[in-house]
Amino acid sequence: MFAKAVEGGYAVPAYNFNNLEQLQAIVQACVESKSPVILQVSSGARKYANANLLRNMAKGAVEFAKELGCEIPIALHLDHGDTFELCKDCIDSGFSSVMIDGSHHSFEDNIALTKKVVEYAHAHGVTVEGELGVLAGVEDDVVAEKSHYTKPEEVIEFVTKTGCDSLAISIGTSHGANKFTPEQCTRNANGVLVPPPLRFDILEEIEAKLPGFPIVLHGSSSVPQEDVDTINKFGGALKDSVGIPEEQLRKAAKSAVCKINIDSDGRLAMTAAIRKVFVEKPGEFDPRKYLGPARDALKELYKHKNENVLGSAGKA
Ligand code: G3H
Ligand code: 13P
Ligand code: NA
Ligand code: ZN
Repeated sequence: MFAKAVEGGYAVPAYNFNNLEQLQAIVQACVESKSPVILQVSSGARKYANANLLRNMAKGAVEFAKELGCEIPIALHLDHGDTFELCKDCIDSGFSSVMIDGSHHSFEDNIALTKKVVEYAHAHGVTVEGELGVLAGVEDDVVAEKSHYTKPEEVIEFVTKTGCDSLAISIGTSHGANKFTPEQCTRNANGVLVPPPLRFDILEEIEAKLPGFPIVLHGSSSVPQEDVDTINKFGGALKDSVGIPEEQLRKAAKSAVCKINIDSDGRLAMTAAIRKVFVEKPGEFDPRKYLGPARDALKELYKHKNENVLGSAGKA
């Protein structure tokens, strides 16, 4: 997947799922736009939905895609694995790839942990994503208090010593729907917060040191203003929400960045749709009547990402 994406100048979408409707939307969107896809499961998702159930749902997703008429490449990936044991469990249970996120450890400890996961994973035909540099914001239960950009001078040593297959980097993205403080942004004519640009200079330095090596961007939601407005119009209270402008992600997708992680945008789209139903149709109490519209909104969002942002549409 990554070799084709680096060569083709696009990024494979990595979308998180925790439940049936999210998985349905991801598969439908990627089949309809003929995009390869990485299904991501976090440790929080495993706690929420049960690890066995999620794994078997992912298997079912492959059959579902076939039934929809297109055999798209589908990978099942552990998002933000934090221990060897968690990665091992996913490797043993048939995941295609795992992320070991040692970015909160020292450089040496990150290398040692990542190397240990790589040795086990490669012996089982599974690929590994490592991370260097700390994103701001919330990852699972870990709040990064001190974010820092990836240091280009460390990447060759990290990749060589660990043997990892792809590298997540920190160039200004972060997790969640509030990626920048209002103080870090400027306001446009409509009063909307405009964030500072990503550090493409750091990305270029990394690409120069590791030509063609697969790079991953986490925290790549754009936080669409329409969804924030809909949520707030129908009783929500989201404040100072700001994401990564799509233009920046389009540019990143053309580079060695070949996997782009998006979760928060999907959460916003589903929440907007559900809030709208609850306010407009207060008599509804069948979950299908609000989760259905949420699923449809999510599908449209992800088709848009594949077709207009990541460039993965038509690459299956
Ligand atoms: O990077 C985090 C992903 O959005 C997954 O979030 O850990 O709340 O499942 P989660
Ligand atoms: P967002 O919170 O920007 O959607 O990032 C998701 C992510 O990085 C999952 O690993
Ligand atoms: Na790319
Ligand atoms: Zn992430």
